[in-house]
Amino acid sequence: MMATRAPQRPARAAPERTEPARSVETGRDFEFTAADFARIRDLIHRAAGISLSDHKRDMAYSRLARRLRARGIDTFRQYLDLLEAENDPAEWEAFTNALTTNLTAFFREAHHFPILAEFVARRAQPVSVWCSAASTGEEPYSIAMTLIEALGESGARQASVLATDIDTQVLAKGEAGVYQFDQVKHLSPERLKRFFLKGTGAHAGMVKVRPEVRALVRFEQLNLTDRDYQLRTQFDAIFCRNVMIYFDKPTQSQVLARFEPLMKAGGLLFAGHSENFTYVTEAFRLRGQTVYELTRDTSGARAPSRANAHGTPEPSGVAA
Ligand SMILES: C[S@@+](CC[C@H](N)C(=O)[O-])C[C@H]1O[C@@H](n2cnc3c(N)ncnc32)[C@H](O)[C@@H]1O
Repeated sequence: MMATRAPQRPARAAPERTEPARSVETGRDFEFTAADFARIRDLIHRAAGISLSDHKRDMAYSRLARRLRARGIDTFRQYLDLLEAENDPAEWEAFTNALTTNLTAFFREAHHFPILAEFVARRAQPVSVWCSAASTGEEPYSIAMTLIEALGESGARQASVLATDIDTQVLAKGEAGVYQFDQVKHLSPERLKRFFLKGTGAHAGMVKVRPEVRALVRFEQLNLTDRDYQLRTQFDAIFCRNVMIYFDKPTQSQVLARFEPLMKAGGLLFAGHSENFTYVTEAFRLRGQTVYELTRDTSGARAPSRANAHGTPEPSGVAA
């Protein structure tokens, strides 16, 4: 079963005077003012670290309008007042779920998986991997499949993949492990056969991740902006891909500081293609291909930075 933690209402900021509602949208079911959007941005930043840019305004409207309808509320102001006034974990969860972006795919950013395979094959066993923004499960299952390919069925049986996300809806989908065939059709015939069951009858056009792959993966809710992740274990590798782009630099830096003690010596951190942590942290340095390693050595001392005199990171040493 997926473990969930009760979402917490973020600390209330000092009340601010809101500007008069100037930009009222027309042609919509609900009035949606600039002040409403500013409030939503503030609340989701405090709840999940997500910085919503201006162009997410329509997205915020359409996703949260569903919450207003579900609650029988007439205006965004009333909905946001209710959210702030009542410590209602279910509504905070629905608010957060509504505003996350969950795009993902099996073997997305494919160059990472051969690096992971080569890395785990030479690590002390059993290996453990944390997929920290797991979305609907495609990424942690791709990790589990890579572990099976690299370590063999019996070697991988000892391995584990912790799959976490803030969004409880995507975690439930991940735990079910059921996908449209279209989502896996780009995989090799060998992978399809080895790792998926094909749906028939009412399930035609669907696939289900095989139980031996699912057995490696544990889904749990975790907010990367929480002060204490309550993880009492260390990982050989952490995947944190395509989530930091939604966080501002101070939030990225706090998350990376929390990752550092959770990494085993020699561990690797996998980032998304457009994420660069070089100037955000001293705890990790780029090895190449958006894979980072700890700067501290096994004694706990920090090794000198690889950045050159101009502060430019040196080229990668990681083989794909
Ligand atoms: C764009 S998806 C990336 C999924 C996957 N890592 C990948 O690269 O394909 C971003 C995920 O980060 C999650 N997320 C956003 N804020 C989060 C937070 N504060 N803590 C944990 N997960 C968060 C979202 O719910 C979403 O599922």
